[in-house]
Amino acid sequence: MKNVIVGQSGGPTAVINSSLLGVFKTARDRGADIVYGMVHGIKGLLDGKIVDLSKQIKNDLDMDLLKRTPSSFLGSCRYKLPDVEGYEEEYERIFKILNDLEIYAFFYIGGNDSMDTIQKLSDYGKSVNSPIRFMGVPKTIDNDLAVTDHTPGYGSAAKYIASTTKEIIRDGLVYDYPVVSVMEVMGRNAGWLTAAAALAKSEDCEGVDLICLPERVFDLDKFLARVGELCRAKGSAVIAVSEGVKIADGRYVCELADHVDYVDAFGHKQLTGTARFLAAKVAEKYGVKTRAIELSSLQRCASHITSRIDVTEAFNAGGAAVKAAFEGMSGQVITLKRISDDPYMCVTEPTDVRFIANVEKKVPDEWIDEDGMGVKEALVHYIRPLIQAEIAPLWVDGLPRHLILHEE
Ligand code: F6P
Repeated sequence: MKNVIVGQSGGPTAVINSSLLGVFKTARDRGADIVYGMVHGIKGLLDGKIVDLSKQIKNDLDMDLLKRTPSSFLGSCRYKLPDVEGYEEEYERIFKILNDLEIYAFFYIGGNDSMDTIQKLSDYGKSVNSPIRFMGVPKTIDNDLAVTDHTPGYGSAAKYIASTTKEIIRDGLVYDYPVVSVMEVMGRNAGWLTAAAALAKSEDCEGVDLICLPERVFDLDKFLARVGELCRAKGSAVIAVSEGVKIADGRYVCELADHVDYVDAFGHKQLTGTARFLAAKVAEKYGVKTRAIELSSLQRCASHITSRIDVTEAFNAGGAAVKAAFEGMSGQVITLKRISDDPYMCVTEPTDVRFIANVEKKVPDEWIDEDGMGVKEALVHYIRPLIQAEIAPLWVDGLPRHLILHEE
């Protein structure tokens, strides 16, 4: 038997299901017998929650729908596997489950935290001479994975952010009295996503006024002074700020206002409320109308406005992981290598998971303005190809139709 298993882990994206489809279709095309899906990632596997994907994705229409379905079709988890020492039983359990299912290759679609799972499982597998291959398929809207040029999921989130920013700017500058709109963008400790707001600037849009990334220390007084100048010079302003901006003592700006109690298994605090906090500070200091706009999940589940480039690359990354595993590789993650900018071209390449697991790639300093409140053209140039072209939803009764997971 040549059975394979695939899971999705971490925060979802609008194209993570294209990677799932890439794994499913390529594994079948290459002769896999059963393609299992873990429901809620490795956590679900441990709880015995698995499905046979052939029963879920039955025909070409299902494949077309899956590609257009946001969030993780199989469900996700944020579960950190413990180090082996002292937890041998958990690893023995996982490998018993995989052996009972006659698994030949294991695929995990996720970001830097999820790649920790691939690293631990492939290391343990080697130590017990298991023939199972473990491969990572990259995904994250944060674009913070090392080695790879960019991550599947980023292009679509960037497209949504840039498009929405254009719309917010039009709305935000509509009145003849000042309005300061503060837009909060995800991305945790990396500013790649927030930087995408810079793409709004075009022939028909004057662009955002300030962009604040977590790569630079956030100075509240400096920020308020700049907002004051903007209000005096042009009345209204639109500002993009990362959820992960921090002040000099290392605290997140959102921690200054809200009590952020929730921390996930990887030790990440839930980041929310930055825009609300800053908008309140602006209103307090200048007495102007403000709007706090937290893009939150909207930016990662907008499957009605995905980038076709992103959908294709996400699918290819899944397919390349299967190809590599079937050729004997293990403990690798598929990365994207940009080989040309004009025309834009990217190829896939397997990379040792050790270089990717638990590593955060930040926006390079030279791509950020000196004052830390804007980004350079080189960064816009890097992002632009990733948001190109569209893939239309399949509309039913006026709404995009999605594929849903059925209980087995
Ligand atoms: O890692 C992807 C991401 O969307 C981050 O940008 C964000 O900080 C985090 O996930 C939110 O995670 P959750 O969905 O667990 O709140």
